[in-house]
Amino acid sequence: MATILITGASSGIGEAAALLLAKDHAVTATVRTESARDALIAKAATAGVSVEVALVDVCDLDAVRGLVARLETAGGIDVLVQNAGTGFVGTLEQLDLGELRRALEVNFFGAAQTLQAVLPGMRTRGHGRILAVSSVGGAVGQPFNDAYCAAKFALEGLLESLAPVAATVGIAISVIEPGPVATKFIANVQGLDAVLDGGANDPYAAAKANYMARLGAPERMAGMQSSEDVAQVIAEVISTPTPALRYQTSTWSTAFVATKLHDVTGDAVISMTSAWVAD
Ligand SMILES: NC(=O)c1ccc[n+]([C@@H]2O[C@H](COP(=O)([O-])OP(=O)(O)OC[C@H]3O[C@@H](n4cnc5c(N)ncnc54)[C@H](OP(=O)(O)O)[C@@H]3O)[C@@H](O)[C@H]2O)c1
Repeated sequence: MATILITGASSGIGEAAALLLAKDHAVTATVRTESARDALIAKAATAGVSVEVALVDVCDLDAVRGLVARLETAGGIDVLVQNAGTGFVGTLEQLDLGELRRALEVNFFGAAQTLQAVLPGMRTRGHGRILAVSSVGGAVGQPFNDAYCAAKFALEGLLESLAPVAATVGIAISVIEPGPVATKFIANVQGLDAVLDGGANDPYAAAKANYMARLGAPERMAGMQSSEDVAQVIAEVISTPTPALRYQTSTWSTAFVATKLHDVTGDAVISMTSAWVAD
């Protein structure tokens, strides 16, 4: 039985992972409100498992450090599932710089400071696992996802760089790359109003309309997964003796990310994403 910390477990992938992993492990899951804490404890009870729930915003360094210190005192963290994240849409010219910073704040700095807090304990014990829920958007830049993809690229760059060094002290790092997942993520996406209502003279109106139309297209919907599907992949990665750096969560995501990983010039990705915004 491992001791697992999961961030962002009020809904979606984090909640599903907490409920699944709690069957075999000691799970502490973070949420941001008391009502979300009560709801997760109730769902765990219904599922016949026990989850310790802590109130933590990953952007609040004191809260992150306080929780990690408490778990270290109680015996330490074997596995961190860094899952908290939020979507942001908008093309750079129309993106409020505050939104760009917030996208980085949650998806990158929040993740980085949580990792920084757990690394010393794992290093001292000589073992640990870090799984960061990134996205296919952490590998492939996508129209109107400038801020979100920038943040997830930054996260993947951080982790790919850190992985070989962390391995020297017994810590394995993996990046989880889901494609579309049916969660509250889309409803929670920030900046959407500006994308939908760019005004009468919006120079990007046609590109936006074409992009939005594609969101429900059959080829994209074919890649849709449930939170439980992604939680299952997370559980499998945790139980793998020698985990890889990068895991896509479906054949759809693997095919999507492969476009990038084989594409040394960027031509294949730009050709694909240009078609999404073209008439
Ligand atoms: N759904 C998709 O299509 C998709 C695809 C690829 C990757 N992902 C990634 O999967 C992860 C989970 O997303 P999801 O799809 O499960 O969406 P979700 O249901 O909206 O869950 C996001 C979770 O992150 C939490 N969170 C947001 N900001 C936070 C902060 N500052 N501090 C702590 N927690 C925070 C949310 O808490 P609150 O309820 O308090 O906001 C919620 O628990 C994210 O990293 C996302 O980027 C999602």
